[in-house]
Amino acid sequence: MVTHKKPTWWKVGVIYQVYPRSFQDTNEDGVGDLSGIVSRLDYLEWLGIDAIWISPFYPSPMEDFGYDITDYTGLDPVFGELPDFDALVAEAHRRSIRVILDFVPNHTSHLHPWFVESRSARESEKRNWYIWQDPKPDGSPPNNWRGQADPDTEGSAWAFDEFTGQYYLANFSPSQPELNWRNTEVREAMMDAMRFWLDRDADGFRVDMVDFLGKDPDFRDESPLAEGKTPRDYLVEARYQLNRPETLDYIREMKRILDQYPDRVLIGEVIYFLPVERMAAYYGEGDLLDLPTNFRFTFLPPEAPVLRRFVDDYDAALREHGAWPNHCLGNHDSPRVSRHGEETSRLLAMMLLTLRGTPFVYYGDEIGMPNVKVLPDKRQDGWDYIGRDPARTPMQWDASPNAGFCHEHAEPWLPVSDEFEKDNVESQRSDSRSMLALYRRLLGLRRAEQALSLGDYEAMEDAPERCFAYRRQYEGRRLLVALNFSGEAIRLTLAGCTDAKILLSTYLNRDGETGAETLELRPFEGIVAEVPDMNPNETEV
Ligand code: GLC
Ligand code: CA
Repeated sequence: MVTHKKPTWWKVGVIYQVYPRSFQDTNEDGVGDLSGIVSRLDYLEWLGIDAIWISPFYPSPMEDFGYDITDYTGLDPVFGELPDFDALVAEAHRRSIRVILDFVPNHTSHLHPWFVESRSARESEKRNWYIWQDPKPDGSPPNNWRGQADPDTEGSAWAFDEFTGQYYLANFSPSQPELNWRNTEVREAMMDAMRFWLDRDADGFRVDMVDFLGKDPDFRDESPLAEGKTPRDYLVEARYQLNRPETLDYIREMKRILDQYPDRVLIGEVIYFLPVERMAAYYGEGDLLDLPTNFRFTFLPPEAPVLRRFVDDYDAALREHGAWPNHCLGNHDSPRVSRHGEETSRLLAMMLLTLRGTPFVYYGDEIGMPNVKVLPDKRQDGWDYIGRDPARTPMQWDASPNAGFCHEHAEPWLPVSDEFEKDNVESQRSDSRSMLALYRRLLGLRRAEQALSLGDYEAMEDAPERCFAYRRQYEGRRLLVALNFSGEAIRLTLAGCTDAKILLSTYLNRDGETGAETLELRPFEGIVAEVPDMNPNETEV
């Protein structure tokens, strides 16, 4: 049993994303598995995270590595069997680590028995489980909805089925047909699947592509992409293909299921560029998503004014709704944060773990894993235009063959970084100034300081332009986070503060240093400091 922490665990906690294929292999097939995750739980406990979110492990032809499901209540044999799942949950809970599952309700694999049945005949009893439409008289797709597998192309969201002479909707790939959420049988099947895992003690879900669930029943055309507009604008502005009002009802239905169990969390993936007010709307009155995901830091340039502007807007929009923010630096769909270089990655890590909102840490970022160059003959991901393989390579555990990810005679499904001998968990554990050491200290500090998890956020108005500085405050405890995103040393003025004390520097060598009225930051240095008497008002313009 997990002991219930107050307040809500997913607000104070840190969630660690495990890409199961790449975490730890235990049966020498070169692909990670659930037993592998179990074998690394001690590490995760030592690191100090509160929950893991595991990317899909359900049966799948793996055309989209698990985001194409053929059975919602099973495990793909490559990952293990149900008892392995139960063991994982039990072992995680024993260490007070929650387990969040990925849930992919918008589409199945084209090989799911439901779709096989659905496409077998127009009269099939499962026909209406998916979204079928006649071609236009000239044979072209039913409307102008854009495919998302490669948003930069003019591709259609519809795929033609020769056998029954109709198109089916498949926003992401013809191998991922969209379920028809208007059909109550579909919704019931989905709710049953959720219950199945909740009954097995899963602590919640990260719902894939949740904003795509509803579709216009009349299949109206979207406005075509106007001159100067990007595919991102299309996704934000679309009114018929996604972003539907009825989607909120579907989410409400899911939330009601979760609410029948204590302490579960409902996270939802929404499109990356959604304006903050629209993100805020997905919280509803506490009856929708607990955390609609915020992806801004995966693509914003790491520049103080840009980051600050976003955080200010996001924090303000959510505060107005009494909603809780969340942040991540990367995931299995984005290039790793290490592309910004080590110094900046450290600053971003400090930011991630000291902002108001639930942080998501992508596996391997805590040791600064690189984006690994994957040669054409080793490529796995079908989404060529993004090329997601480089951010999905095996976890680098130690300097042994295959970085300890799999047996030396096994071939890892994606290549291990060439740098694994230098950069791995084991080597960084014994280096008190490593990236891993920084993550662990940050996680420890966040756990120890409620100001960092629950405190108010307020940006410092008078910080130098290339420094993003903010105060976090909770019940009289006042902390300052200052991140110098420039290659020059800067001096920060601390109005009225006579005894600032540094708790942590991204360089890990300034603990306990004190300052009065001012604090120096070295190039690309970030610090967390106690500023007990820094006057909140005097720092505001
Ligand atoms: C989500 C997943 C991504 C997947 C896509 C289609 O964006 O994160 O990996 O390819 O949905 O299911
Ligand atoms: Ca395996």
